Amino acid sequence: MDAIEVIRAKRDGGELTAAQIDWVIDAYTNGGVADEQMSALAMAILLNGMDRREIAVWTQAMIRSGERMDWSALDRPTADKHSTGGVGDKITLPLAPLVAACGAYVPQLSGRGLGHTGGTLDKLESIPGWRASLSNDEMLHVLREAGAVVCAAGSGLAPADKKLYALRDVTGTVESIPLIASSIMSKKIAEGTGSLVLDVKVGSGAFMKTTETARELAETMVALGTDAGVRTVALLTAMDRPLGLAVGNALEVEEAVEVLAGGGPADVVELTVRLAREMLAAAGVSGKDPARALADGSAMDAWRRMIAAQGGDPDALLPRAAETATVQAPASGVLTRLDAYAVGLAAWRLGAGRARKEDPVSAGAGVTLHAKPGDTVREGQPLLTLHADEADRFERALEALEGGYAVAPADAERLPLVIERVTAG
Ligand code: URA
Repeated sequence: MDAIEVIRAKRDGGELTAAQIDWVIDAYTNGGVADEQMSALAMAILLNGMDRREIAVWTQAMIRSGERMDWSALDRPTADKHSTGGVGDKITLPLAPLVAACGAYVPQLSGRGLGHTGGTLDKLESIPGWRASLSNDEMLHVLREAGAVVCAAGSGLAPADKKLYALRDVTGTVESIPLIASSIMSKKIAEGTGSLVLDVKVGSGAFMKTTETARELAETMVALGTDAGVRTVALLTAMDRPLGLAVGNALEVEEAVEVLAGGGPADVVELTVRLAREMLAAAGVSGKDPARALADGSAMDAWRRMIAAQGGDPDALLPRAAETATVQAPASGVLTRLDAYAVGLAAWRLGAGRARKEDPVSAGAGVTLHAKPGDTVREGQPLLTLHADEADRFERALEALEGGYAVAPADAERLPLVIERVTAG
């Protein structure tokens, strides 16, 4: 086989054969296809697409590039959730222990934040002592101890995707539905979960800006999971405004703990409970209702066991940023818009996110919301509090928020929190 022939075939709008895809993924992983050749192919795929057959073959080839985890030693079904990423999306934190408390095992491999979206591992690392890197044996130990584990994917899992994702990130080839779907699903299938619920975000703070593109991504991923024997469903959920009232690392852990204590913002509670019910149904586990497990403290108990089993202190005080600044409501009326992307960008500029993979993040930085779209506000009341370790970060964060919120005499229409459910077939 020849890389140039494969690139030309896709450049000219053709379909790649299974043999071509298997060869190119294998050769790229092992260094036989150069980065510049793979980036040309990724751009050809972004421009000309791949059909469902090609995407399925591509995904399977990426899975085969590394190990496939196996949880058959466990005595109950496994379920996982994947979010395509958003602003204030701390749902994994209460959800994983909640589903464990209701009777399924949750083996979750998570990622770090890049750009304006946060990463689950960065959030959990604000808990003193907590460790993201675990061996497979340690993962099994935490699962048996707490019912849920959230950790980083090891280097042996879908190495083709690791290499390709880093390349896409610097070649303008992230925003391709076939490449996003195969990237996410190769990792989730290799992770070995028996069932999977996908939370596909829609809106300014998400990869997918419209319901139509989010639906196409969801349908593609649900088909890939189902064909690989993983019971998979997807929800399209709103990311035109931030989720909850906290955006940042330690700030989001605090909000997740409020939810586990039976409180927390209504949207975070609603989505956590809805996703938990979907995960339990997909895993075929019935019995305890998630709303009851939040109210009776059993989800909180599972959280404490999970954090402690990964070296964290669930009672430790979380880091706080040294400096704060307040954004006030410009007028009295209804907060009609608080844009997820603007708030995510502000949190990123405050230090909560990173520009390059190797950059550190600030545990305490971020944004606290004092009102959500639909709330009545008075002129001059605090709308947002910005948190940063250094006061000189505020200026650029405030620039990010310019035009990102609006107060009007009457409310505007917004996406519902859960927009649509996508299932196989
Ligand atoms: N997340 C992934 O893991 N891969 C993508 O391509 C996009 C988001």
